[in-house]
Amino acid sequence: VKPIKPMVAGKKPPTVVAPVPVLTFPPRDQTLQILTRILAENESLEDALEEWSDRLDARGKAWVWDVCQTLFRFRGGIDTLIDQHALKKKPTGRVRKQLWIAVVQILFHKDVSPEKIVHETVDWVKRDSGVAASGFINACLRKIAAEKESWIQYLAGDFPGILPDWWTTELKKVYRDDWIRGFARASLGQPTTWFRAKKGAETPREFFEPGPIDRSFSWKGELAHLTSYARKNEFLVQDLASQILISENLQEVRKYFSEPRLLDRCAAPGGKSVALSWSGVDVFAYDAHEKRRLSLAATVKEKAADVKIVNDEQQFPKRPEWIWVDAPCSGSGVVRRHPEMKWLKNPKDLESLLKIQKELIADSWERLPPGGFLTYTVCSLFPSEGVLMIKRAGLSEYAVKEWTLAPHLETSTDGFYGALLRKPE
Ligand SMILES: C[S@@+](CC[C@H](N)C(=O)[O-])C[C@H]1O[C@@H](n2cnc3c(N)ncnc32)[C@H](O)[C@@H]1O
Repeated sequence: VKPIKPMVAGKKPPTVVAPVPVLTFPPRDQTLQILTRILAENESLEDALEEWSDRLDARGKAWVWDVCQTLFRFRGGIDTLIDQHALKKKPTGRVRKQLWIAVVQILFHKDVSPEKIVHETVDWVKRDSGVAASGFINACLRKIAAEKESWIQYLAGDFPGILPDWWTTELKKVYRDDWIRGFARASLGQPTTWFRAKKGAETPREFFEPGPIDRSFSWKGELAHLTSYARKNEFLVQDLASQILISENLQEVRKYFSEPRLLDRCAAPGGKSVALSWSGVDVFAYDAHEKRRLSLAATVKEKAADVKIVNDEQQFPKRPEWIWVDAPCSGSGVVRRHPEMKWLKNPKDLESLLKIQKELIADSWERLPPGGFLTYTVCSLFPSEGVLMIKRAGLSEYAVKEWTLAPHLETSTDGFYGALLRKPE
């Protein structure tokens, strides 16, 4: 990129031209840079791709998305196979990432021949990293391509490293080995897209299949239509787990309060606030982060204008009958949607999340009047963020109901833990 020259007085200002999307296909360079950014900056794939949106066309974006998601899902196994073919010196940095991209293509892109992928990758690496690197990559990829079928079999089984070791240690605090194996396997799959529709919204049969919860629908149409429905005011993309939690918590709370006043304490981007408001709850919505509060305000303005945004803790309603803490968490339960999260967060991050969760629970419990309800949810399956957190907060005896929802259970959903607690009257 040329540096922009300072403007000279009296000269015509330069015309500003919008960046032209890069149309080279497949966009290997961009994929490499996005992978580097995700791992170096701890950034989600969605955010990293957004940064590149003016440098990729739609086809390129879809390619990068697919390669990165597949890589992060199968990274444990892909690293094993790369290391087996590089016995003398394990590749690192740029060269490993170049291998990742090519291996994903060889094993998962059935419409391109392995010979073409190896040939194009070697050319690319020669230009990018020099002859020595390209020679090494050539030798490595040829062996992998020759054993393609057995590696595909390998990745279809319970290969070691589906989950990072520290995840398994966390899960073992409560779950048995077969439960963890089931979750690990399911975490490699593609999740269903679920919608929640407002009462009266038209749900054409070619796009929507009714789900198990009132006004829940799974999506069976094309991606282009999905985006346009997601933007409509009477529709919300919301996983079945959240819909189940909303419906079942509401059912319990309604036994005591017919139109409960709720403080949704960690509300951005606003999915639960909107759905609860559609169900007749009087919602006050807050989020600690100003930028996220703006996105919350935008969502509710479009979809549920009755929701009241609270900008500061001083303005919390005085005696809310119900507080919902949808706490910030590791996201271990939504790994099918965000497989990169397996490799971004670490035990230290978890420690700081546990601290925030405990504080949010304690403070919310204190704000409740006698007989009030507290719902605590996390999109995580780590017991330390779920059942053990309620125990750590000293509130287990007040649990009215608890939920563990997961992708490998009978009703397959995102992984969530939820607890409904009631303060004694
Ligand atoms: C899991 S997300 C909430 C998702 C939201 N309930 C929904 O259904 O769309 C957690 C949110 O908690 C917010 N958060 C983090 N720390 C917080 C705190 N101390 N108080 C309130 N919100 C907090 C984050 O900004 C984030 O938006």
